Amino acid sequence: MQTEAPERNLGLDLVRVTEAAALAAARWLGRGNGKAGDKAAVDAMRLSFNAVDIDGVVVIGEGEKDKAPMLYNGEKLGTGRGPKVDVAVDPVEGTRLLAYGRPNAISVVAMAPRGSMFNPGPAFYMSKLVVPSAARHAIDLDASPEENLKNIAKALGKDVNDLTVFVLDKPRHKELIAHIRKAGARIQLHTDGDVAGALMAVLPETSVDVMMGTGGTPEGVLAAAAIKVVGGEMLGRLDPQSATEKEALLKAGYDLQRVLSTQDLIRSDDVFFAATGISGGDFLSGVRFTGPGAITYSVVMRGKTGTVRRIEAIHSFDQLMQISAINYN
Ligand code: FBP
Repeated sequence: MQTEAPERNLGLDLVRVTEAAALAAARWLGRGNGKAGDKAAVDAMRLSFNAVDIDGVVVIGEGEKDKAPMLYNGEKLGTGRGPKVDVAVDPVEGTRLLAYGRPNAISVVAMAPRGSMFNPGPAFYMSKLVVPSAARHAIDLDASPEENLKNIAKALGKDVNDLTVFVLDKPRHKELIAHIRKAGARIQLHTDGDVAGALMAVLPETSVDVMMGTGGTPEGVLAAAAIKVVGGEMLGRLDPQSATEKEALLKAGYDLQRVLSTQDLIRSDDVFFAATGISGGDFLSGVRFTGPGAITYSVVMRGKTGTVRRIEAIHSFDQLMQISAINYN
């Protein structure tokens, strides 16, 4: 029998942060101006973080201080009164998705004890392979896509032809796509948004079984936080896409051969993850403006207990006015 009061779930504070960012960003859906949408989301997220009782440091943010006035890497976040934590933020994951009104733009935040989050440093790109829990022992980053897909299908009790693989539609994936087709699996090509892609791969209720290919390293760490909670596996390897990126990584002492597991990306079970849909998709519905207010759809996860909450929130017009004020200033 439980005799102590339950601990506070900081994830519930975090979801208010992603809700605010999503509400602000959603005003910019399809307006062709991803930058403005991102700025609106950053402003709203920054303001909301002021109310969260954490002593946070941004490990994954909007970039270096001189380029990002807010939510920059190294910036302190929160009231300073709570636990010492690393914070990863992506106020708009999929800026182009937002700009063109395409599905799967989301607002995301993750949090873990100080020092437990992989710091991407100058690593922009990482090759990723993401599968649900039942296939977590079936994958090998050094095996061919054909071999991996055969083993994943076996572990999931499916035919390879029935697997759906999420792949970013980028020229660098031409060969990967040919291999997946040769294996016989089906492909969902998306222009952007591989955090949503990774989550779709691990969540049973979506139409995606696997995510393969190279995307952002910060996005990999964010997705790993959620995978720590819901199960599944992400294997990754830094995959620099330019000579400059490669040089910077080698200079900073990163090992380009090392296979990074979910556990290497987030080295603690005491992790929190929150995301709110902006444009809507298979993973999360988007912001719906209703006239008197708006409705948001979010997911909040807590590693210590494994709790996953889906939250539908009805926001009043007053609240939207506050967010719009930030938005259009
Ligand atoms: P942004 O929100 O920063 O625009 O990222 C979108 C995204 O598609 C990520 O989901 C993905 O990891 C990364 O960009 C891929 O980068 P690139 O478009 O340069 O290949």
